[in-house]
Amino acid sequence: MNKLKILIAASEVVPFAKTGGLADVVGALPKALHSLGHDVRVVMPRYYVVDIKKYKLKPLVGALGVPMGIMGEIWALVYEGVLPDSAVPVYFIEYEDFFGRSGLYDDGVNGYDDNDNRFIFFSRAVMQLAKKLEFHPDVIHANDWHTATIPMLLNTIYAFDSNFAYTGSLLSIHNLQHQGKFYKGVMDVMGIGWNHFYEMQEHDSVNLLKGGIVHADAVSTVSQKYAQEIRSNEFGWGLNGLIDSYSYKLHGILNGVDYDEWNPSLDSFIAKKFDTKNMSPKAICKADIQASFNLPQRGDVPLIGFVGRLVEQKGIHLLASAIYKILEMDIQIVMLGAGEKWAEHFFGEIAFKYPEKFSCYIGYRNDLAHKIEAGSDLFLMPSLFEPCGLNQIYSLRYGTLPIVRATGGLDDTIESYHNDSKHGNGFKFTDATPEALFNTIGWAVYTYYNDKVGFDNLRKNAMSARFDWIAAAKEYEALYYKIAKGRKGHV
Ligand code: ADP
Ligand code: GLC
Repeated sequence: MNKLKILIAASEVVPFAKTGGLADVVGALPKALHSLGHDVRVVMPRYYVVDIKKYKLKPLVGALGVPMGIMGEIWALVYEGVLPDSAVPVYFIEYEDFFGRSGLYDDGVNGYDDNDNRFIFFSRAVMQLAKKLEFHPDVIHANDWHTATIPMLLNTIYAFDSNFAYTGSLLSIHNLQHQGKFYKGVMDVMGIGWNHFYEMQEHDSVNLLKGGIVHADAVSTVSQKYAQEIRSNEFGWGLNGLIDSYSYKLHGILNGVDYDEWNPSLDSFIAKKFDTKNMSPKAICKADIQASFNLPQRGDVPLIGFVGRLVEQKGIHLLASAIYKILEMDIQIVMLGAGEKWAEHFFGEIAFKYPEKFSCYIGYRNDLAHKIEAGSDLFLMPSLFEPCGLNQIYSLRYGTLPIVRATGGLDDTIESYHNDSKHGNGFKFTDATPEALFNTIGWAVYTYYNDKVGFDNLRKNAMSARFDWIAAAKEYEALYYKIAKGRKGHV
């Protein structure tokens, strides 16, 4: 088979800028694709947080002209670097007015009010950059609403551009809740023509993700289960009817894990490295995290970790409703997260009231995320919906048993403990209720105290499971070939 030319566009990429799992994915998938022999390149915005010196980024010669409809042409700078420890090129689109700000999408409280122009600009810049580089991709892989404009551009403004004569598109949905809904006047900035309005119309607004779904050659989500769920009213955020009608081009590919990054035998953030053959240092990691979070250093108590955005998606209101009952158990909980203000205040207050049992760090700290994975016995992810979820998969590798709700990628990756067969790698519940959450935590805690053999078995199962990026990359590869073939029949 011919090797493919793949251009991946995303709004965040590890290690340059990250708010969530999307960045982890786009930081890792291209390396796996590269190792399969493909010419893969990545494009992202050059936000203020992207450190030019640290990553040795070099400016490309000449400015990049980006037509922005009634706003006229905007001239951007482009920097070039590589994904660390790889030869995968990464291009950064710099335009101070749009990306020279402290946040990626918001100022910490409110979303930026020009996010439509910012990401339409970025999407258009991706197309212009491919032209400038004379890079003729077989597939452009867009991710979430920020780059969902690209499949539309490809089918309209660039439909007869020889640079893209053989180019198809894939749109990956990492989170259907966020769709990029804006005032319809932005059509005049996109410049694709009002005759395309209905394809992305939602009442009197435009919905960029909707347009991307309509125009992309294929649409993927980050787990099989979520690919099914988003066809239903419960998980479809209003787009379920549309998605269902395009089910023939819908695919589910489970995310992988970068095991160079998340691996207890290599992890330099944790107090002491460990592996399946020598688990005893995990107790040192537990004591370390208890010390960091000012909790009593007890080896005998089950320590439950939580790392994640404090938003409704993550089931934090279930936890908030059940927390007083949960804390009647002899347990400790450490929480790392930031997000909705009510939650930050609420859990801060719980920590104040239960200093022996509950501690939280409100903010974003990668080192602490690693330490929590390593030092906890159990990991909590009671999400209402979870397209894939990465932390539960990281937890498995560290022998930290996930307690999850059976939804999306959580359901695809976690198998509940079977008391009799000793199978499983975690604890799972179905109902999105505080009672179900409480009962399942109770079950896990009971197993910890009273069924040590069962608990150790679960740990072994968890640590031996692998979710390698290479396996996921091969699924993407097959899909890219299909897209490229379908587009022009040239592969
Ligand atoms: P989502 O993308 O919905 O936030 P994922 O589970 O896919 O959920 O990915 C979340 C990623 O962000 C993980 O790598 C997790 O460790 C990281 N993360 C989330 N919140 C924090 C935080 N407060 N500090 C450090 N890392 C965080
Ligand atoms: C999204 C989802 C999360 C997924 C991540 C990476 O942010 O919420 O479930 O793991 O994207 O695909």
